[in-house]
Amino acid sequence: MPSPQPPRRFPELPAGFRFGTSTAAYQIEGAATEDGRGPSVWDTFCAQEGRIADGSTGDVACDHYHRYAEDVALMRRLGAGGYRFSLSWPRIQPTGAGAPNEKGLDFYDRLIDCLLESGVEPMVTLFHWDLPQELEDDGGWLNRATVDRFAEFAAIVGERYADRVEHWIPVNEPNVFSLLGYATGVHAPGRTLMFDSLPVSHHLLLGHGRAAIALRSAGATSIGCANNHAPMWPASDDEADVGATKLFDALWNGMYVEPMLLGRYPRDLMPLMEDVIADGDMATIRQPLDFYGVNYYNPMKIAAAGEESEMPFAFPELVGYPTTDLGWPVVPDALREWLITLRARYRAALPPIMITESGCAYGTGPDEHGVVDDQPRIDYLEAHLDAVATAIRRGVDVRGYYTWSLLDNFEWAEGLTQRFGLVHVDYETQRRTPKRSFDWYAAMIAAQPKHA
Ligand code: NOJ
Repeated sequence: MPSPQPPRRFPELPAGFRFGTSTAAYQIEGAATEDGRGPSVWDTFCAQEGRIADGSTGDVACDHYHRYAEDVALMRRLGAGGYRFSLSWPRIQPTGAGAPNEKGLDFYDRLIDCLLESGVEPMVTLFHWDLPQELEDDGGWLNRATVDRFAEFAAIVGERYADRVEHWIPVNEPNVFSLLGYATGVHAPGRTLMFDSLPVSHHLLLGHGRAAIALRSAGATSIGCANNHAPMWPASDDEADVGATKLFDALWNGMYVEPMLLGRYPRDLMPLMEDVIADGDMATIRQPLDFYGVNYYNPMKIAAAGEESEMPFAFPELVGYPTTDLGWPVVPDALREWLITLRARYRAALPPIMITESGCAYGTGPDEHGVVDDQPRIDYLEAHLDAVATAIRRGVDVRGYYTWSLLDNFEWAEGLTQRFGLVHVDYETQRRTPKRSFDWYAAMIAAQPKHA
């Protein structure tokens, strides 16, 4: 007879810990030409042959623009107190400049009010990669003038929503956006500038600082960031591999956290950045932050590249771990490691941390009974929340965990092929089916200690 399994316990987070889900405008909204929305770099990119794995676009995606009330009802049922979403800049300023489009602003009024009525606190990202195409035509984030436009956009949305929005994030993952969008061209706008893309990183950081100032003066009280971080593991003890790892760690992690928290670039990067920094920039970037948002997916293994390579580093596969459908290794302990590293590196300069994204792609769809049995996602969430709980016990101040994502959605260059949601979306019918992981997340939240 098989021995009875002990009941599974839930990860335990401190009282008041905020649980949430995350999404982004282009990935879920659809309604790409409705109510005056202008084109973004992602509309242009998706229209180009061969850019998106399955040839899909965000034209309809999850049709959230029309179905937001149904999606908020799902959040209420989930019992998560937080929801992170992004504003579509071209919906609010169709060309990226000038007077706002009232219908665009109205949509987010409806969404925010619906969230608040449902007991869900909004966390708003201003830039989650959908740059208005007209700004790209003028050079996009390579052009310093885009920073001015972004500060104007921040002032518009701050004035409109700061009375109701709890948390604000100016820029999502500046490292991923500049690397994939402007260095390697895998994402929109598809530029392949390699190291010549570095001004983009600086301008995004400056945009972060300028938007934070604009939001603060509009009355926002909690401003943070959502930086993608990965612990970097050298492929060997070899000096060349260790050196390549240090450089890539500076480019991926240090380049964003250090300007934001310390007002400087990592020393090794200064020769690359000197020409683009104007007087006062570093002080502008270093704004007081109320929380530090971490988007975590997996660690990376780094080796020195061979002579013939254009880049000084290589990315050997990290073997020995289970992987998600995207082939990303599942390493919850590296989340604990990164949280402890952040605290050790930045100490008093580090505000409380929020996990602004953490999640996994598994393609499970409904079975013949309509059940979506995505046990690997449950295991993933459980292990990553345990890793956060361990970091907290070791003294790291982590206040929340927003899983990516509420819904299956448009996964950028992967199109609709990768499913990150707690809720399955049938893109033919737009039918939403909460997965077993949804029920698990709800039960885990309900089991948490409450405030005394
Ligand atoms: C990070 C990005 O912010 C989000 O847009 C994306 O879908 C997830 N990672 C998964 O790749």
